[in-house]
Amino acid sequence: MPKLVVTNREGETSTIEVEEGLSVMEAIRDNGFDELLALCGGCCSCATCHVFVDDKAGGQLPEMSEDEDDLLESSDHRNETSRLSCQIPLTDELSGLKVTIAPED
Ligand code: FES
Repeated sequence: MPKLVVTNREGETSTIEVEEGLSVMEAIRDNGFDELLALCGGCCSCATCHVFVDDKAGGQLPEMSEDEDDLLESSDHRNETSRLSCQIPLTDELSGLKVTIAPED
């Protein structure tokens, strides 16, 4: 199972194991991080699943869609590592991916 390394808003880092194919958002939400609201449930329309990708672990992230780009543009905290975590399926190739939950907008 792919591993995901998550840093929460308090700066605490934990490693979780994730069923392959789940999105990074689902993995974070299902592992008790209640600060990731993911209000739209993963249909790329809320931007409350914003994370910073700290390390791609040698894998390739999917291309950012125009919708994702537009939603991230509405965040005050966007930087060059920003992604919407519901748009990243966790594959074995991405095992070890490191993300930090972005501050709330
Ligand atoms: S969960 Fe709403 S955009 Fe990702």
